[in-house]
Amino acid sequence: MLIMLLISPNFSDLFKPNIEIKAFPDGDLYVRIPEIKQCAGEDVILLHRLYPDQNTSILTLFMLLDTLRRVGARVTLVSPYLPYSRQDKTFLEGEALSAQVLCSMIASFGVRELITLDCHFLKKEGEIEYAGLKIRNISANHALIEHGRSKIGIEEPFEVISPDQGAGYLVSDFGGKTMEKVRGEYEKGDTAYRKIEKLERNFEIAGKNVLIIDDMISTGTTMIKAIENIKSGGAKKVLCAATHGFFMKDSLHRIRTSADIVFTTNSIVNPVSEVDISKLLSSVIPELKK
Ligand code: R5P
Repeated sequence: MLIMLLISPNFSDLFKPNIEIKAFPDGDLYVRIPEIKQCAGEDVILLHRLYPDQNTSILTLFMLLDTLRRVGARVTLVSPYLPYSRQDKTFLEGEALSAQVLCSMIASFGVRELITLDCHFLKKEGEIEYAGLKIRNISANHALIEHGRSKIGIEEPFEVISPDQGAGYLVSDFGGKTMEKVRGEYEKGDTAYRKIEKLERNFEIAGKNVLIIDDMISTGTTMIKAIENIKSGGAKKVLCAATHGFFMKDSLHRIRTSADIVFTTNSIVNPVSEVDISKLLSSVIPELKK
């Protein structure tokens, strides 16, 4: 059986692209799949990142999916980071359920399955159906922990810790412990960000090396509070890792200043995206093995 691999230009750091994405002079997107004939009626694996420029990347995705639907292709979508995944619940009346909006729209194009990494709202690995979309959530936790080991050295064992309950599944297989994060109201202003009221730890880490793992680092507030807490508890060395690293504003610098080691996967490319997701993806999609 023929399985077509379609690679978006935003995956070109890992695989050779075969999709054209340009813009018309006025900024409208132009999308073309040159090998569309080979996709007709076939199974297609489409690799397309949805970050950075998430809104444009999402529209690009819809254009790709529509093009494939018109020739009857059966699509498996691979997007390592799923944007809007933090808005799967409402906090204030009248808020959009953005995660549902995005997933149901992807499903409406007939996508058979979305393969993604450490999707924020799923909080576990495996196959799940959400808003009509079949999702296979793969965790980068093993790869991150292995990388942490290679960085700190085998003679320096470490504890793995998650900074909040939602990321607990990332460390539970390794006997890891979880801190408790309590969020408060939205901050004032145009940025929708709910303050972190407290980050509590009810276990000892004095004298130990600690690797803090989260699904994502965005503003860095969670990670910096976690580092401060761990250090004040007398930890020896502090390593920080996340599957998805956005590092908004100067957060990477601030984290680097307070922790000994920081790294992420390259689901989102950033200056410390050291853990290569192509191995992880190839382990579930054999067609990707070069
Ligand atoms: C949220 O609960 C996530 O697991 C992350 O802890 C959070 O999204 C990180 O965001 P920030 O870096 O802005 O604190």
